[in-house]
Amino acid sequence: MKRISINGGNTLSGTINITGAKNSAVALIPASVLCDEQTTIYNVPNISDRDALIDILNCLNCETSVNNDLVKIDSSKCENKQISLELSKKMRASYYFMGALLSKFKHVEMYFPGGCNIGKRPIDIHIKGFEALGATVKIKGDLYTIDAENLKGTNITLDFASVGATINIMLAAVKAEGRTVIRNAAREAEIVNIATFLNNMGAKITGAGTSVIRIEGVDYLHRAMIEVIPDRIEAGTYIILGAMIGNELKINNIIPEHIDALLSKLREMNVKYLLEENSVTISKAENVRAANIKTAVYPGFPTDIAQPMMVLLTQANGVSMYEETIWENRMGHVKHLVNMGANIKNGNTNAVVIGPTPLYGADVEATDLRGGAAMVLAGLIAEGTTKVTSIEHILRGYDNIINKLKNVGADIKIEEY
Ligand code: EPU
Repeated sequence: MKRISINGGNTLSGTINITGAKNSAVALIPASVLCDEQTTIYNVPNISDRDALIDILNCLNCETSVNNDLVKIDSSKCENKQISLELSKKMRASYYFMGALLSKFKHVEMYFPGGCNIGKRPIDIHIKGFEALGATVKIKGDLYTIDAENLKGTNITLDFASVGATINIMLAAVKAEGRTVIRNAAREAEIVNIATFLNNMGAKITGAGTSVIRIEGVDYLHRAMIEVIPDRIEAGTYIILGAMIGNELKINNIIPEHIDALLSKLREMNVKYLLEENSVTISKAENVRAANIKTAVYPGFPTDIAQPMMVLLTQANGVSMYEETIWENRMGHVKHLVNMGANIKNGNTNAVVIGPTPLYGADVEATDLRGGAAMVLAGLIAEGTTKVTSIEHILRGYDNIINKLKNVGADIKIEEY
């Protein structure tokens, strides 16, 4: 088995280039099956979720090629087949094939998706959206069979502004007859990226990025390309790291508006940085103030950056209150931070962090993707050696994390154990 080994305490300087957003790429790849010709996706991160989605495309008889960050997909010979239990469970985003295949073939068979264990993660809002468009959904154990004679545009108000449901319903509606309006839609930057890709294929979607998305159904989707937006969560992870052990660490290729919630929280905490057009340069901050973090849907404070942020809270002066409002089980990292010396009291979704406390190297586990990133950050600022297990969670979502950190001076490696 593999684990990450870190000797903490090095100062980091130089440049980290941010790659394409995982949560965009994992929807763009399934969206490509909607195209009846070839699609090209630029700036795709090198993560294991990418490979798992490409495996699904290959099983559906799509032709795929991956060349560094460039993915080409020819869906002209795409066949509708059941997506196996193993492939469905490999990651959360396999469920985007529900909307995409429903739209293309009016029939889908696949299993309940996998993904990080951060909550129950039901997909009832997706299913209600498909049903509103005219589909019938049969659920037998984990197997979902979705059929429609005809998909008809309609008005759908989501119970919650779910990222996955917004994208899945958009995919399902793109070729439906007439107009679909999604209200209380999620507004995440990734949703705009997916809508742009579909529009590049000839779809008629307006309003993506606002809470009302309008989709006029079209019959045919043609050849198109898209560039994946920079990963705002990867950027946030390294910016937080820079605030703890950076020396003019430059986080490059970012879209500042996408990380506004983090940057304004850092300012509140007395963390200084230089913001330029597409980069942030940051050094170890002195006299960091404690702060309250409450996660929220976009453009609020992102749940995906909250776990790495907790590491910075352990270094802040005073008492910080932390509240996770999106996922009911996203505190797996806390006991490991406590093991390393942090002073944190937590419930299921709340925590109180009292700082500053020095952290010491320990054997810890990546309980989920972002909890794993928090462990890497903690290991890098700690005194001594930290060994992080279950690193497959981290490699699912962070492109080239070891080399990116080594290149700026970290003592970090993957080792067998
Ligand atoms: N929810 C339902 N029913 C549904 C859908 C969602 O109750 O049908 C609930 C969820 O259980 C959760 C909340 O609504 O409590 C938010 O879920 P959402 O659907 O917005 O999340 P998601 O689409 O499953 C994506 C990202 C997550 C990120 C969330 C919130 C992908 C593949 N995943 O998940 O990313 O935390 O949006 O921003 O895009 C990560 O990258 O580490 C990660 C977990």
